[in-house]
Amino acid sequence: MPDTHDRSDEAIEVSALKADSFGRIALMRGSDGTRFVRRDLRHVPLWLRLPAWWLARREARGLAAVAGMRDVPQLLAWDGRRLDRSYMPGAAMYQRPPHGDLIYFRRARRLLQGLHRRGLAHNDLAKEANWLVLDDGRPAIIDFQLAVRGHPRSRWMRLLAREDLRHLLKHKRMYCRAALTPVEKRVLKRTSWLRDLWFRTGKPVYRVVTRRILKWEDNEGQGPKP
Ligand SMILES: Nc1ncnc2c1ncn2[C@@H]1O[C@H](COP(=O)(O)OP(=O)(O)O)[C@@H](O)[C@H]1O
Ligand SMILES: [Mg+2]
Repeated sequence: MPDTHDRSDEAIEVSALKADSFGRIALMRGSDGTRFVRRDLRHVPLWLRLPAWWLARREARGLAAVAGMRDVPQLLAWDGRRLDRSYMPGAAMYQRPPHGDLIYFRRARRLLQGLHRRGLAHNDLAKEANWLVLDDGRPAIIDFQLAVRGHPRSRWMRLLAREDLRHLLKHKRMYCRAALTPVEKRVLKRTSWLRDLWFRTGKPVYRVVTRRILKWEDNEGQGPKP
């Protein structure tokens, strides 16, 4: 997608938000004063450029699928090196936990349904860092690097949507346990073959890659250790 917003060159960095092997994320201020979040791939080591580009492109496409929706970042620009998205003021769920906040979880569920209705599964919602509690208390979802698009009613998308929902319900169980409905408890209990496969094969590989090779923190974005 071409650079469609005018902030790219005159923008100044306000603060660094995060840096890892897949890029540097910074809060920026554009020439018109609006804040936005930039992922910059120019700091990525050469051997990781391809996967980093692939993940950023996936995020750009995911964000395009939910353009215009409230409480998700808006895609501002993606030129193959820099991905700009709108900034949403708030804090991550683990920084400002929605203890006993039933309204937060009700809205979060509606937000998630909105994504799924537009044919997008997020796939990374177990991380509290990817759920925001906005300044007015509303939930927001960020980080669409692993998002998958498809027909909302296909079996595959329905399975992924259920996994997204299960991740949300785990957070609800953590912060709002008494409010879990019988149906939600059932969703939490019912595990899918996809999850079993992930725990048996994907997760051990992911751990080796992220901890040994990329040297990410053990608990990245998961919130406080138990
Ligand atoms: N649109 C946004 N609004 C507010 N904060 C954001 C936004 N995008 C990212 N952040 C902040 O930057 C951090 C890293 O962004 P994220 O897209 O999750 O990158 P990563 O894929 O590396 O986890 C987030 O945990 C959040 O604190
Ligand atoms: Mg993240």
